[in-house]
Amino acid sequence: MKSYDIAVIPGDGVGGEVAVEGEKVLKAGAQKYGFKVGTETFGWGCDYYLKHGRMMPDDMLKTLEDFDAIFLGCVGDADKVPDHISLTLLLTIRKGFDQYVNLRPIKLYPGVSSPVISATPETVDMAVVRENTEGEYAANGGIFKMGTPDGFALQTAIFTQKGCERVMRYAFELAGRRMEARGAEHARVTNCTKSNALNYSMVFWDRVFDQVSRDYPEIKTDMAMVDALTMWFVKNPNTFDVIVASNLFGDIITDLGAMLQGGMGFAAGANLNPDKMFPSMFEPIHGSAPKYAGKGIVNSVAAIESIRMMLEHLGEVEAARDIESAIVAVLKSGRVRTRDMGGDNSTSEMGDAICKSILAD
Ligand code: IPM
Ligand code: MN
Repeated sequence: MKSYDIAVIPGDGVGGEVAVEGEKVLKAGAQKYGFKVGTETFGWGCDYYLKHGRMMPDDMLKTLEDFDAIFLGCVGDADKVPDHISLTLLLTIRKGFDQYVNLRPIKLYPGVSSPVISATPETVDMAVVRENTEGEYAANGGIFKMGTPDGFALQTAIFTQKGCERVMRYAFELAGRRMEARGAEHARVTNCTKSNALNYSMVFWDRVFDQVSRDYPEIKTDMAMVDALTMWFVKNPNTFDVIVASNLFGDIITDLGAMLQGGMGFAAGANLNPDKMFPSMFEPIHGSAPKYAGKGIVNSVAAIESIRMMLEHLGEVEAARDIESAIVAVLKSGRVRTRDMGGDNSTSEMGDAICKSILAD
């Protein structure tokens, strides 16, 4: 019997509540499909910081490296720890385990409504492939002469041939896999860029995109400046399939993407090391929403979706597909709706309904 060891980091705010629901679904999948999961929970985050003066132990990566995957709730609580400090937890794992793809599917499920009127289940089905280890997040720079009139800051983005190429290749490969399911007419990779203004980094990025695209002649390409792309996301979401974006641009457009898919409560992400040299990390992309913590009212679908992505990555494809069917069935029926969906069901009622649907047949 296959067996997976999963590290769970609930994190802050609502992280614990949504992580519990994700774990429930993971166990339901294991029960039905005959694999084993062992989980170990790590209490790192802002409360840990208040006690120990750091977000996580120095040997965190060593502790995590032998797990098959990591499941993260969410991190950050600005009342306790400044965000640029608390978020080192997340960024250290992304970079330390070379999780160079941040895959964020954007799909509007039937039964969910989006605040964007062009968004329907027929028009919203795309995936953002965000570069996740370099670019604008390279953490390279400094603050100088702070507090004086000569004060200045430098934050230099780093774009490498290897870093751009590998994430773009992933995007084309993904478009190829999606083509099998959705038909050739939809297969397209859109290059999210800003090479009209960023005359070194993004010109370089575009050139690498052109090089990589030549290896995938069967997949159409186009490009959009990131500002225009936000407009097209709203106006014509149906024209997108796979979008490849730099770290910062990918961050920004996926919050807009979350609205296309009905809100932050539906948006999941996978921080992937596709070469499987290190564990990958799966997380809902919403924040920790400390004001809702402990109330059991937030939507657990995003966390459950990230478990679905974890199982897909681990090769438990049937279980992953089943979780998606269960999510679709529950949302479509409209019987269980959390507060963000205009209902009054709890975080755990959503998780329970999805588990029940998985185990029903
Ligand atoms: C995300 C988040 C993080 C990011 C923050 C919390 C550092 O916004 O995962 O999208 O910018 O990557
Ligand atoms: Mn973000």
